[in-house]
Formats: sequence, structure tokens, C-alpha cells
Amino acid sequence: MPMGRTLVLSLAFMTLWIGLAVADWNILNQRKRNVFGASLKNYCESWRINVELNNIKEFDVVPQECIEYIGKYMTSTQYKADIERAIEESSLYLSSCCSLNGNGKDSWIFDVDDTLLSTVPYFKRHNFGGEKLNITSLEGWMREAKAPALEHTLRLFDEIKSRGIKIFLISSRRECLRDATVDNLIKVGYHGWTSLILRGLNDEYKQVHNYKAEARKQLVNEGNDIWGIVGDQWSSFDGSPSARRTFKLPNSLYYVS
Ligand SMILES: *[C@@H]1O[C@H](CO)[C@@H](O)[C@H](O)[C@H]1NC(C)=O
Repeated sequence: MPMGRTLVLSLAFMTLWIGLAVADWNILNQRKRNVFGASLKNYCESWRINVELNNIKEFDVVPQECIEYIGKYMTSTQYKADIERAIEESSLYLSSCCSLNGNGKDSWIFDVDDTLLSTVPYFKRHNFGGEKLNITSLEGWMREAKAPALEHTLRLFDEIKSRGIKIFLISSRRECLRDATVDNLIKVGYHGWTSLILRGLNDEYKQVHNYKAEARKQLVNEGNDIWGIVGDQWSSFDGSPSARRTFKLPNSLYYVS
């Protein structure tokens, strides 16, 4: 075979191979972008943010394709930083807002789960919200009273207490979990709240946002002045009466309406 022809043929082969290789790269990159890379991350972050904005309501489970992303976020330093920032804003508000009445009626409200105590260890073992919530199993875990504190909220709790403001805890936990809840709270450093309000038998048929608004109404009727609420669910602020300010902590594991 003459040299010239061999060269042409080899060049042709080389071009073909390079062409295939480039095509391969493109397919790979595209897969990466659509399934594993930037765009899935973008999709899941935007799902998460829209949960926080209360645009996405009443989701039953975290979308399958975002379980890994939500798991990473809820166990990340970013989640901790987001909590810390919300708590700092509450603290800032507290230091400048309030001409406190000083009559023993100044009040503040906290949620319990994922506000004072973290359920992340439970959801870590249950697919980070990617499977339908099993109340029996969650309540079993709550009964063990092993939930860790959210350390930044604990600091705010103590700061509020030291200002002579009464603290009310309004939780969607059921009344039968009272002992375990008190045990758990005390064990991780919370003490000195005025009242822990839990869902009684009559409240179990109400939607949580109604139950919580009624609990606040009762507090206001008793003459309490509610300066602020810290909670991880929108149902902790919804309805009337509310408070002068509300502070939402992030939570994309579950939605309570
Ligand atoms: C829910 O959890 C309980 C206690 O762990 C378990 O016995 C039950 O089978 C679970 N139910 C479902 C539907 O998975």
C-alpha cells in the first residue's frame, strides 16, 4: 500500500475515533448535568426553598430524586448556619424591639420538634422524609426521649428567660407524650418554661394550625402579650392571634398543616 493512502486512511480512522470520543463525552456530560450534577442540585434546592417560602404546601414525602440532597442539607453545616442566623435575628429583635411590660405577662412561644429538639436522627434512619411518615414509629422514637437539642435555640431560650419573659411551648405532640417530652427537654438543658401545651384528645381532630391558633387565643385571653414565635412550620404562625414577630426555622423533612 502506498504511504500516502495509509496516511489518509489512518487520518480518517483517527478522525472517526476522535469524533466518537467527543460524542461520548457530550452524552456523558449531559447525563451528568441532568441526572447527577448541577441541574438536579438546582431542582432540589429550588424545591427546598419553595417549601421554606410556603409555596409548596402539604407534601407527604420528599421527592424521591431529592432525598439525597435533602439528607445532605439537613445534616450540613449550612443547615446549622441557617438556624443560627434565624436565631440571631430573633435575638437582635429581642434586644431592640420590646418595651417589655414587666408585669409578668410578656411572653414568647416556641415549637418543640425541630425548634427546641431535633428529629433529624429519626429521619436519618427513615430516608430523610422520603417515605410516608409512620406516626407510631415516630412516637415510639419520641418516647425514648433521646432527641438532641438545637443548640442555638437553647441559647435563645435562656436569653429570653433571663429577660423575665415567660416561655410557652406549643407542640403538635400528643398529650400522651408529656412525660417523655419533659424528660427529653430537661435532659438536654431546657428548663424554666411556664407551660408545655400538647394536643389533647379533643385537639387530635383539629388541624394543627387551628389547634395552635386556639392555644394562642387562650394565652392572649389570659392577658399574655406575645412578643414572638419561633417555629419550623408555617402552621405555627398561621391564624389569629399571632405575635408581633415570627421566626421560621428551616425544615424540609415534613410538612404539618
Ligand atoms: C409503623 O411502625 C410500627 C412501629 O415501628 C410498625 O409496627 C408498623 O408496621 C409500621 N407501619 C407501616 C405501615 O409501616
